[in-house]
Amino acid sequence: MIKIRNLFKVIDDKEILKNLNININKGDFVSVVGPSGSGKTTLLNIILSISMKSSGTYRFNEENIEDILNSTSKIRSFRKSVGIMSTFSHLLPNLDIKDNILLPTIISDLNLNNDYYDSLIEKLKIDNIMKNEVSSLSSGEKQRVLLARALILNPTVLVADEPTSNLDKENALNMIDILCNLNEQNKTTIIIATHDDNIYNKTNLILRIEDGNLSEE
Ligand SMILES: Nc1ncnc2c1ncn2[C@@H]1O[C@H](COP(=O)(O)OP(=O)(O)OP(=O)(O)O)[C@@H](O)[C@H]1O
Ligand SMILES: [Mg+2]
Repeated sequence: MIKIRNLFKVIDDKEILKNLNININKGDFVSVVGPSGSGKTTLLNIILSISMKSSGTYRFNEENIEDILNSTSKIRSFRKSVGIMSTFSHLLPNLDIKDNILLPTIISDLNLNNDYYDSLIEKLKIDNIMKNEVSSLSSGEKQRVLLARALILNPTVLVADEPTSNLDKENALNMIDILCNLNEQNKTTIIIATHDDNIYNKTNLILRIEDGNLSEE
């Protein structure tokens, strides 16, 4: 599903990612770990095509990322296939919770599958808070609403940057359970950057980055 070969990211003459080779298969649960500043977010953003590699190849479902980005229909399907939960994901306070979750369907002008929506909010345990104000949500609830937004187009891959970093232990464990279920039941491929050993101990591939160099565990 994702094949990365000899990938470098260079910013201002500094090599942020050095010669990475990565294979991610459908249904994998992958964690990207390593010290702060090692390059985890940079790698996730390249996988998401929010930022571009400097050299090397990145193939998504056997297609070069450049070919995907050069085709309106391919980029549309790529954006639909990949759910994003970034550290910059925020809820909009002047929309209600449902519209916050539906944003990707509105932006991409896609119809909502109501059965999928109902099962999603139930699975994420937010069905009982839908009437609440966005500003009144706890951090655990906010994070679950952001996850619902990331999943609303039923992506085949979910990319999440430190999804438990500002949660207390109980909410973090709850989030991890949800991600594990999603991976096991829906076979969603999950790629997360994390410092949380409760998460990376459950993943089937650990990519450790140190100073831009990758090792697999
Ligand atoms: N646009 C940019 N311009 C300059 N330097 C950058 C840019 N993006 C990333 N970097 C640098 O690249 C390195 C890796 O950053 P990155 O955000 O990928 O680290 P990280 O592993 O996600 O860290 P953290 O655990 O703190 O989130 C850092 O030294 C960062 O300052
Ligand atoms: Mg980061």
